[in-house]
Amino acid sequence: MTLSEYYRGRRVVITGASSGIGKDLALLLASWGAHLALTARRRELLEEVRTQAAKAGAEVLVHAADVRDRGAMQAMADEVLARWGHVDLVIGNAGVGGLNPATCFDLEIHRSTIEINCLGLAHTLVPYIPSMLARKSGHLVGVSSLAAFRGRPRAASYSSAKAQQGVFLESLRMDLRPHGITVSAIHPGFVVTPMTEHTEFRMPFMVDVRESSLLIAKAIRAKKARYLYPWQMRWLVRAEGLLPCAVYDWLLPRASGMRDDVKPRSL
Ligand SMILES: NC(=O)c1ccc[n+]([C@@H]2O[C@H](COP(=O)([O-])OP(=O)(O)OC[C@H]3O[C@@H](n4cnc5c(N)ncnc54)[C@H](OP(=O)(O)O)[C@@H]3O)[C@@H](O)[C@H]2O)c1
Repeated sequence: MTLSEYYRGRRVVITGASSGIGKDLALLLASWGAHLALTARRRELLEEVRTQAAKAGAEVLVHAADVRDRGAMQAMADEVLARWGHVDLVIGNAGVGGLNPATCFDLEIHRSTIEINCLGLAHTLVPYIPSMLARKSGHLVGVSSLAAFRGRPRAASYSSAKAQQGVFLESLRMDLRPHGITVSAIHPGFVVTPMTEHTEFRMPFMVDVRESSLLIAKAIRAKKARYLYPWQMRWLVRAEGLLPCAVYDWLLPRASGMRDDVKPRSL
């Protein structure tokens, strides 16, 4: 089955669809005939994505919401399920990056990074579990990061949030597999999006957002439990995992190319 045949007619929820990875994935899946329910906070950007996606003939529902708002995310799920009856695929992609050096740690940035990435992912996926359990089918996906596997320098908030997402998804995967529900964790390397429009640190092997969307779409079709990309970064991350702490602590700040004077900020 080709990718477009796989996605044709599927009912797909995507968070963080106003920009970057989520937006491009929405447009790609729409071009293959998927029906979409899109969310993010910026309604006007979502409407632009809806207009573009609908040109391909897809049904596109739009619901502006903050993933931190549990009630709003439940309301969206209720609305989408009432309209479609069921959802095949939920992609929890909304997230924020961020720098937070320990020497000037900002607890407010920490709180929002954890709330958006961690609680936001739970608020996104959990409302669809009862209907997937009832149908004994469905696919839940979370977009984490390659920053999930070891602490990145000056990124305690982002790295720990992405690690939480990966572990959260793994537990869901084990619990839901016997009920016919697939759970996948996607771990991108650097992708060209507004989140990476900065020069604070080196971003090797960066991939174009459409290449990223194709890789994610293939990983979802293959029902990968965990997918790390691009392949060069997958191997780098695996190699880093073998390093003793003393070597890792010496190497990473140098290899990242990060300036010493970076200040806490969301990306
Ligand atoms: N780009 C990369 O190199 C890279 C690498 C690894 C992982 N990732 C992950 O990929 C995901 C998408 O990132 P991106 O690169 O596409 O970044 P992006 O272009 O900045 O997009 C982030 C998306 O998340 C949404 N979002 C942020 N906070 C939200 C909130 N509180 N409530 C609802 N939606 C919210 C934004 O929409 P609104 O602002 O309209 O709400 C936007 O649609 C993130 O989880 C990120 O951590 C990205």
